Amino acid sequence: MKYKLIMQHQNTLAYAQDLDKKDELAAFRQRFHFPQHDGKDVIYFTGNSLGLQPKSTEAYIQQELNDWKTYGVEGHFLAKNPWFSYHEILTEQAAQLVGALPSEVVMMNQLTVNLHLLMVSFYRPTAKRYKILCEAKAFPSDQYALQSQAEFHGFKSDDAIIEVEPREGEYSIRYEDILAAIEKHKDELALIMFSGVNYFTGQVFDMKSITELGHKHGITVGFDLAHAAGNIDLHLHDWGVDFAAWCSYKYLNSGPGSVAGAFVHERHHKNTSLPLFAGWWGTDKKKRFLMEKTFHPIEGAERWQLSNAPVFSMAAHKAALDVITDAGFSKMRKKSADLLSYLEFIITEINGKQAEGKKFEFLTPKENSPYIPKGIQPGCQFSIIAHGRGKELFHALVKHGVVPDWREPNVIRMAPVPLYNSFEDLYRFGEILKSLCSL
Ligand SMILES: Cc1ncc(COP(=O)(O)O)c(C=O)c1O
Repeated sequence: MKYKLIMQHQNTLAYAQDLDKKDELAAFRQRFHFPQHDGKDVIYFTGNSLGLQPKSTEAYIQQELNDWKTYGVEGHFLAKNPWFSYHEILTEQAAQLVGALPSEVVMMNQLTVNLHLLMVSFYRPTAKRYKILCEAKAFPSDQYALQSQAEFHGFKSDDAIIEVEPREGEYSIRYEDILAAIEKHKDELALIMFSGVNYFTGQVFDMKSITELGHKHGITVGFDLAHAAGNIDLHLHDWGVDFAAWCSYKYLNSGPGSVAGAFVHERHHKNTSLPLFAGWWGTDKKKRFLMEKTFHPIEGAERWQLSNAPVFSMAAHKAALDVITDAGFSKMRKKSADLLSYLEFIITEINGKQAEGKKFEFLTPKENSPYIPKGIQPGCQFSIIAHGRGKELFHALVKHGVVPDWREPNVIRMAPVPLYNSFEDLYRFGEILKSLCSL
């Protein structure tokens, strides 16, 4: 059913249920806890903000609680999954999701913390080359991180940060404009840092081209993959990306504030002269407990670790990664495209009945447009502009058991995710939206 033509869809319950019957991943919905509304599962569209809890998470965390109860400090070595090396059980699966070698990935800290730690090493401004290129309206935490990094090095952030903006009257950034900005500022840029998927518009950036062009001009390139990891196809190693960081609580369903990921390309692993903020978890594992004064950098992303593993949040992450492994990420990607196609069909149909000025406008750009080059499949986020409506529409949706996300002044963000959303969810959402629009 991949990329089914919108014309072939039908807006009926029977049709949606038939798609669910044919869906290879349909059973995975049963592996998640859903918040309830009037005794029924809500229509949960905020997997882009906080993914739902896998039912297995409790047992994974309970295992660590039991081992702590049983072994106390000895759990570092005697626990079923020894805490001393707990992060290592996450690496292989996390690396697969971002298209990296295991040595290039480590799960640690939180997202903004990781961005800062990585910029300590990879934002190395000089008097001539000190600027940072990023997308306009990046997530605020990223903006603050970039500003404070520039200021930490003694630059004025207004001068040091160059934002690529959408054109007048447009919402997303044309990819030719990103490439043109790199060319224009090539001699003054020390760093390019974009998100993989913009949190607001859902625009997927062409990370491969951005990295290639940046590198051609000797610029370091990093990405914030908060809205990309577990959502879109990533090939960080092959694209040659220098560094990246992501969180695990959105599409990776690992719980609020759960452990984040960091990627450092293999080509930097032997470069022990890279400056970094060090901690004991980044030193050679064999020497760590000798408690010596000298830091012996691990050759790999683990070098950037500071502290011992936050085992409970890592247990939640392991539970979630195992669900994704069972489902298979390529199947998730296929279903994601199918869900998006059906949602677009439903909203297009509603638009057909709406008065001018009240039609929903699609904010999230599509593949093969001026914003997303051909061959780059968007993720599952779908943002729409609710023209002529205010937050009352959002409140009404919530009252009817839909959980979308509202951004001022009038944007509804939805993310039908392949692991636990169904086609029936989309059909039911359409019926609720229609009734709220008095159609
Ligand atoms: C794109 C992006 N960057 C940064 C953050 C901040 O993440 P954290 O609070 O885990 O540092 C978020 C959180 O939603 C985000 O979406």
